[in-house]
Amino acid sequence: MELKIVILFVLFAFPYSSISKKKCNFNVELQQNLHNTGFHRNMTYIVSFHDDYEIWLNQNCVMALEQELPPGVYAHPNELVNLRKRNKANIFLKKHVDIEALAEESTNSYVYIISKVLKNKIYVYLPLHGRYHAARQGGGTVKNYFESPTLYLRCPDNRLHDCRDILPNAVSFLCYDKSKKSCDWKQIPYISLSEAIQWEVPVGNTDSTYMVLAGTYLAILTGTFFILDSLRVYNSQSRISGR
Ligand SMILES: *[C@@H]1O[C@H](CO)[C@@H](O)[C@H](O)[C@H]1NC(C)=O
Repeated sequence: MELKIVILFVLFAFPYSSISKKKCNFNVELQQNLHNTGFHRNMTYIVSFHDDYEIWLNQNCVMALEQELPPGVYAHPNELVNLRKRNKANIFLKKHVDIEALAEESTNSYVYIISKVLKNKIYVYLPLHGRYHAARQGGGTVKNYFESPTLYLRCPDNRLHDCRDILPNAVSFLCYDKSKKSCDWKQIPYISLSEAIQWEVPVGNTDSTYMVLAGTYLAILTGTFFILDSLRVYNSQSRISGR
């Protein structure tokens, strides 16, 4: 009888204890890329859970990437609503953004990209738009620099609680949609496989603005001169004809 208990203990407790020792060793990798050219682009993310990823699979865990966007870039609120409605992507703005504003009038904004952890590799994307910059002397280009996103994980049970020694305190923000108030998320360390992302946008040239203005004034002055001149000619002719 006692032997049976020992055998059961060895069979069940041993694998479990080795898993629990390793399970806080997350070993997550993140690959981030910016696609397309011009003012409308697509940021893609591949989050890879390695080694013990089985622990996270099919356990109703959810991951979130919090991406900071530089002032020169925004995510369009209507586009995000549309993507959510069509179940294409689950992306939320942290705060309202003004999509009309110039880069100079804007501040950094934040988005949450949320996805269920159903596979050991998770693909998510974020459609982005460049803001126009105020024209300046010489024109040229400006660069938008992106910070790496912060990765969060949330599991319905207390699994992540066991890793409290190595994980920072939980952060609270929306769960999966906006239906519930908020959930507790744990920030998970990851290894970035990508270089810091930059997005270069062209800037209008004020020098050419002056050229355009000068040309416009010249055209107006020339036109005015011809009208005045023909009035003068008409007047002197009417005086000669005695009208
Ligand atoms: C962005 O890239 C993803 C993954 O490659 C793709 O599924 C999606 O359609 C792209 N979205 C846009 C707006 O280009």
